[in-house]
Parts: sequence; structure tokens; C-alpha cells
Amino acid sequence: MFEARNLGMSYSVAGRSVAALEDVDLDLPRGSFTAIVGRSGCGKTTLLRILAGLAEPTSGTLSFAGGGRPRIGYVFQEPRLMPWLSVARNAGFGLCGRIPQEVIDQRVGEALALVGLSGFAEATPEQLSGGMAQRVAIARALVLEPDLLLMDEPFGALDAFTRRTMQQELVEIWRKRRPTVVFVTHDVEEAVLLGEAIAELSAGRLVGLRRVDLPYPRDPTDPALLAHRRAVLERLLETSRHPLQKEIVS
Ligand SMILES: Nc1ncnc2c1ncn2[C@@H]1O[C@H](COP(=O)(O)OP(=O)(O)OP(=O)(O)O)[C@@H](O)[C@H]1O
Ligand SMILES: [Mg+2]
Repeated sequence: MFEARNLGMSYSVAGRSVAALEDVDLDLPRGSFTAIVGRSGCGKTTLLRILAGLAEPTSGTLSFAGGGRPRIGYVFQEPRLMPWLSVARNAGFGLCGRIPQEVIDQRVGEALALVGLSGFAEATPEQLSGGMAQRVAIARALVLEPDLLLMDEPFGALDAFTRRTMQQELVEIWRKRRPTVVFVTHDVEEAVLLGEAIAELSAGRLVGLRRVDLPYPRDPTDPALLAHRRAVLERLLETSRHPLQKEIVS
């Protein structure tokens, strides 16, 4: 279990303090899949970077029931591969020199098989499509055998067909390996299709936490899923309208 309490983050921009996150509480049970959804600029990446230990929050605490620092896998919106290294070398990069090469090779082989790229281990990144490159980025995170797999709009740059396939594959990988996943997206359909829990973020605040108790694989046209999608969208539209309404009134 991973727990965030009262997380706050302010940035100083041109001498002004900007609150990117305020009072965020989040529980991430071991093996769970949480989707964080909200509009651009609401603080999703900030929250993910704090969970990853890449940024220090200005207030609040993080705790990990396993003790110590959890192992983190992070998938960015773009693949960020090293063009001079093979697919296999890219996938194993995070472990390079830290454990014996045979163990790395074995883990890389398994991870590439999981993302459907076994035949491309010796290819270079320029020989891959965008979707394949993003699969390598996912494999690179899986190779670390992370306690927490953090994904920041990982399918944002993909076409609708590839995106759908990758969503299905991610669910399969999660069910096989059971990492604790936090998946950031601004796409409400994607959030309800993937998440067991949906954290609704608006202007730096968690405005809703919803459980989606529907079996996997999920069908995007399932009326129960569409009802969740509508409710999430309504809440996000409602909460992001409030500050504006206040401004107009005052
Ligand atoms: N390094 C930084 N310095 C100053 N302000 C920042 C910094 N990083 C983010 N911010 C501000 O924090 C707020 C939240 O940014 P964040 O990147 O977390 O949003 P986001 O929800 O990930 O948006 P998007 O969907 O566009 O990626 C924004 O107002 C942004 O301007
Ligand atoms: Mg972002």
C-alpha cells in the first residue's frame, strides 16, 4: 500500500506562487490500477512526479507500506529512447551495470515478449513506429519490476486504433504482473476503460474518487461504463466552472 496525505505543491513563477496541488489524499493498494483524470494544467504530471520521488512536495507526506523507497517504473508521454541503442539495450537500460547481464537479458526478453516485440530486440528505435517505440518504453519500465508503475498520458500521441490495442495490452500485462499502476490521462473514456479507481483532479484538487467495479476486459460501449464516463465528465466540468463563476459574481 502506498499512501499520499495532504500533498501540496506550489511553484514560484515570475515571483508569484502558483498552487499546482492542494490537499491531495490518495491510497494506492498493492496491485491496484488507479487512473488520474483531469484537464490540461490541473496538476496530473506534478502529482505523478511527486509519487515518483522526482519532485519534493511543498507539503504533505508519502508513505510506502513495504518500507524504504518503492521501486518505480515511469512511462513518459513520449518514448524517450536512445537512438544509438538497440531495442533490447534501451529496454534494459535502467538495470545496466546494476545486476548481472544474464539476468537483465532474461528480464528484457520477458518484457519484450509481454509487449509483443520479441522479434525486434536487435532493431534500432528509428526502425520502429510510434506505437512500437512506446511499447519499448513500457518494457523498459517493466524490466525494473516496479512496485509502482507510473504512466503519464503514455498513449496520448497514438492513433485511435493503436491506442485501443495498447490499452487492451496494458490491462493484460497488469493482470499478469500486478504492479500498482497509476495512469494519468485527460481522456475520460480511457480513464474509465482502464481504472479500478478514478481520481478526478481539477485545479490541483482531488474533486472525486470513484470505483469502477466492472470486469476486464471492458467494452467502451457498455452502458455501465458510459454512465461512469458521463458522471466523471460532469463532475470535472462542474468543478472547473466554479472558480470562473465566482470571478464573474465578485
Ligand atoms: N516546473 C514548474 N515550474 C512552475 N510551474 C509549473 C512547473 N511545472 C508545472 N507547473 C504549473 O503547475 C500546474 C500543473 O502543471 P502539470 O504539468 O502538473 O499539469 P498537467 O495536469 O500534467 O497538464 P497536461 O495535461 O497539460 O500535461 C500548471 O499551472 C503549470 O503551469
Ligand atoms: Mg502533464
